[in-house]
Amino acid sequence: MEYIDGKPLKKYENTIIYYDILKESLINAYNLDLKGIFHGQLGRYYHILNSAKGVRFIDFERGVFTENPRNFLQIIGYYLYRDEKFDKKQLIEITSLYKSNKKDALNMILKVIDESKY
Ligand SMILES: Nc1ncnc2c1ncn2[C@@H]1O[C@H](COP(=O)(O)OP(=O)(O)OP(=O)(O)O)[C@@H](O)[C@H]1O
Ligand SMILES: [Mg+2]
Repeated sequence: MEYIDGKPLKKYENTIIYYDILKESLINAYNLDLKGIFHGQLGRYYHILNSAKGVRFIDFERGVFTENPRNFLQIIGYYLYRDEKFDKKQLIEITSLYKSNKKDALNMILKVIDESKY
């Protein structure tokens, strides 16, 4: 395994790049979902590291191959759903869309995050 020289997501709470890291995490999560790999523990802030090479997920010890990976859904559930900046109804719509159209749901959540920043 490669050592990742990075800082955990937790350290970025209340900083201006927190949502940029979350957006990159959602893109990573989407790509993992397409590969059929479920990390399973992305709700823990310290499994998401921001490094000079970008956002990296670590510790796949509970990871599984599955036809129904929920990386993207878990990140929304753990970080955005409990964030008062976001409308829960809208998040539910996006997670429901994700089941039939992953790409559109990804683009939609990235846009929602961009719009919530200001
Ligand atoms: N910076 C890093 N880069 C790469 N791997 C890391 C880094 N920091 C921790 N790890 C790896 O992440 C894993 C974390 O260790 P471990 O699973 O023991 O702790 P945990 O996930 O906090 O606890 P738990 O037993 O509840 O899963 C280890 O495999 C460790 O090598
Ligand atoms: Mg672990």
